[in-house]
Amino acid sequence: MVTISLSILKYRMTYVTVISAVLIMNVLAYLQSSMLAVSRPVSGYILPTAIGFLIGVLLSSNRVNYLEKDEERKRFFVTIVHSLSIALDERDAYTFGHSSRVTSLSMALGKRLGLNAIQLEMLELGSILHDIGKIGIPDTILNKPEKLTAEEQAMIYQHPIKGERIIGLERTPKIGMLVDCIRSHHERYDGKGYPDGLAQENIPVLARIITIADAYDAMTSLRPYRSKVAPDAALEELKLCAGSQFDPEMVKAFSELVREDKDFLLLSEETPSEVEAFA
Ligand SMILES: [Fe+2]
Repeated sequence: MVTISLSILKYRMTYVTVISAVLIMNVLAYLQSSMLAVSRPVSGYILPTAIGFLIGVLLSSNRVNYLEKDEERKRFFVTIVHSLSIALDERDAYTFGHSSRVTSLSMALGKRLGLNAIQLEMLELGSILHDIGKIGIPDTILNKPEKLTAEEQAMIYQHPIKGERIIGLERTPKIGMLVDCIRSHHERYDGKGYPDGLAQENIPVLARIITIADAYDAMTSLRPYRSKVAPDAALEELKLCAGSQFDPEMVKAFSELVREDKDFLLLSEETPSEVEAFA
């Protein structure tokens, strides 16, 4: 059964559908009169108009119900995925809230770069889950304040591959975008990154975005082995590494976001800071 709610008025498609249905019904009524060679008074168009209106409203309601339920399902899925990343962040007090901050920054940059709706959807999930492979790394290594041994460092380098194994069981084109985010978020523009040593445009576009957001948040957050960097200094570092570590066009877009919105860099402070996490 179709339920009609006032929310259909929010959608431009409702007006297009209703007007189209009214027009079609009136054209049919006119053609019917012509074929029967009878003249139809103006009042004779009231019923076709009313039927067209009703058909338009019912079709719009059906479509809006579907869209809203689909959106609800998507948000529920994102919430579950978010909970998973919070569970991961909880293991590591130093990176508490990291996934949320990287997601806010990545989404702002993705929108700025004009990504389409599907890319943005996968970018949101990809940035929430980019470090999910760290689930397979012992806490003693993740939270180690001293310099890591070569063997421990090699384990850290494995986290994009472990993440791909966790998420990438079913690789459809859409999920493939998400898996690429996880596998390739430590690639470098000059090809010296890991795990595949991809360079420039060979690095998936969503992963290049996450790399910038991830690096910015890593610099501006406290880590066991170093103190925080100020937002302006972190931005300068991104610019310095444009073309070597990062996609230069994306760093340019990131800088423009900062120039146009001074509060943009505060996006990374929307979630509880690592200081609060210790409290
Ligand atoms: Fe990572």
